[in-house]
Amino acid sequence: MKILIVGGHGTIGRKVVAHFSMEHEVITAGRNSGDVTIDISASNSIQSMFNQTGKVDAIICTAGEAKWAPFNDLSEEDFFIGLKSKLMGQVNLVRIGKNFLAPGGSFTLTTGVLADDPVVMTTSAAMVNGAIHSFVLAAALEMENQQRINAVCAGLVEDSAEKYRDYFPGHNPVPMWKVVNGYVRSVLANDNGNIIRIYE
Ligand SMILES: NC(=O)c1ccc[n+]([C@@H]2O[C@H](COP(=O)([O-])OP(=O)(O)OC[C@H]3O[C@@H](n4cnc5c(N)ncnc54)[C@H](OP(=O)(O)O)[C@@H]3O)[C@@H](O)[C@H]2O)c1
Repeated sequence: MKILIVGGHGTIGRKVVAHFSMEHEVITAGRNSGDVTIDISASNSIQSMFNQTGKVDAIICTAGEAKWAPFNDLSEEDFFIGLKSKLMGQVNLVRIGKNFLAPGGSFTLTTGVLADDPVVMTTSAAMVNGAIHSFVLAAALEMENQQRINAVCAGLVEDSAEKYRDYFPGHNPVPMWKVVNGYVRSVLANDNGNIIRIYE
């Protein structure tokens, strides 16, 4: 399979890339990293990346940002960061990418535990994750050519535990192999419209 992994050099992405590279052809993408350049917050950048890659069999996104700050400090502009990057970035990756995804191919988006179990300072990040879940449920009903769409929704991952420990008191970091398995399930099983939650 030819698999495109946007964010393939990030904390989660690099483990997903390492796994799929064992048996598949992997193309990585990012703003400053990867085989091809893309900024998911800009539709024209998404389009030009697909013009370079051509058709692929699976599209995974482990990229997307949102601003973390106390609700009292978040401006409207701050909320737009998450809406433009993590939410519409992934929606546009599907909207444009469906024309470059082979029949039977899959989209795998990335959300996170904040959708169900937020911590303080995540009104924007949690909101965006929840919106992506609703998008996946609805988009799955209208996918054509046997294309499928799922989201992987992990808890704090082991490789980030050190960095984010203070933000997630009492959360058990999720082993990376379990996180990777969420992406494996989305790509290789027949799931469609599944929010693949991996919280422990
Ligand atoms: N870390 C966790 O514990 C955890 C748990 C659950 C969910 N998540 C979610 O999983 C996603 C990835 O997290 P991570 O910890 O792996 O992040 P990360 O280490 O910061 O990696 C993000 C990757 O995405 C790329 N990227 C970021 N913005 C982009 C954009 N606008 N367009 C294209 N590529 C972009 C980055 O590369 P460039 O800088 O080269 O663009 C980088 O390779 C995030 O949405 C995060 O909320 C993370």
